[in-house]
Amino acid sequence: MNTQPIGIFDSGIGGTSVFKEIHALLPHENSIYLADSKHAPYGNKSKQEIIELSIKNTEYLLSKNCKLIVVACNTATTNAISYLRATYDVPFIGIEPAIKPAALNTETKAVGILATKGTLSSELFHKTTDLYSNGIKVIEQVGEGIVPLIEAGKTYSNQMKALLRDYMQPMIDANIDYLVLGCTHYPYLMPLLLEMLPKHVKIIDSGLAVAKQTKAVLDKNSLLNFSSNIPENIFYTNTNVSVLNDILDKKFIVEHLNF
Ligand code: DGL
Repeated sequence: MNTQPIGIFDSGIGGTSVFKEIHALLPHENSIYLADSKHAPYGNKSKQEIIELSIKNTEYLLSKNCKLIVVACNTATTNAISYLRATYDVPFIGIEPAIKPAALNTETKAVGILATKGTLSSELFHKTTDLYSNGIKVIEQVGEGIVPLIEAGKTYSNQMKALLRDYMQPMIDANIDYLVLGCTHYPYLMPLLLEMLPKHVKIIDSGLAVAKQTKAVLDKNSLLNFSSNIPENIFYTNTNVSVLNDILDKKFIVEHLNF
């Protein structure tokens, strides 16, 4: 049994969609969430910059004694996780677009993927896509502009609706039956996407799979927390606390931190 916190980081508030899945599955675990909103979006940065920011986030979480780190950002995972795993001793859990289940289950043989430029251009994403996309049309779309709007608290704005309509139309025209959300900010777009897409389109993300993997790795390393104490789940942001506060249950602690 181990009561040290799980560390979670993202370029901003999007990784809270992953935190929510982890907290639902592992309600006894303490956690520290780092929202590097000051440097969002990561999606347009170079691989080297993404690695440097990921190092900074990891070292902060390790300084807080985290027992495992969840890279709750597809962009940071696809660009930096192999470096992090090779450099630090703790286990790392990453998140990648759920191309495999979409490709295995599509009936129309067309799937859409919405992700950042950094994720779609990464070697890891190409490897996975090449592996599963045989005979399937994969419509890739960079979600340019989405993350900054979510970070600004404008998730359900007209500006966002217009962007999403532009991004979804080519996928609708290609008759996709799966839309893969390849960025942890995007699950917050679900209400808008459900309105916009034909009813038969299934929208999937990897949050629950990451939570299950986190549990399995903690278990394997004898790191699970079985304590019945009320857990401490702390959220740090290096910008305004209000946007993070708005999407979280009021029981969680949100603090400003300079990093
Ligand atoms: N949540 C990050 C991801 O999953 C957003 C990346 C960004 O900041 O552009 O990719």
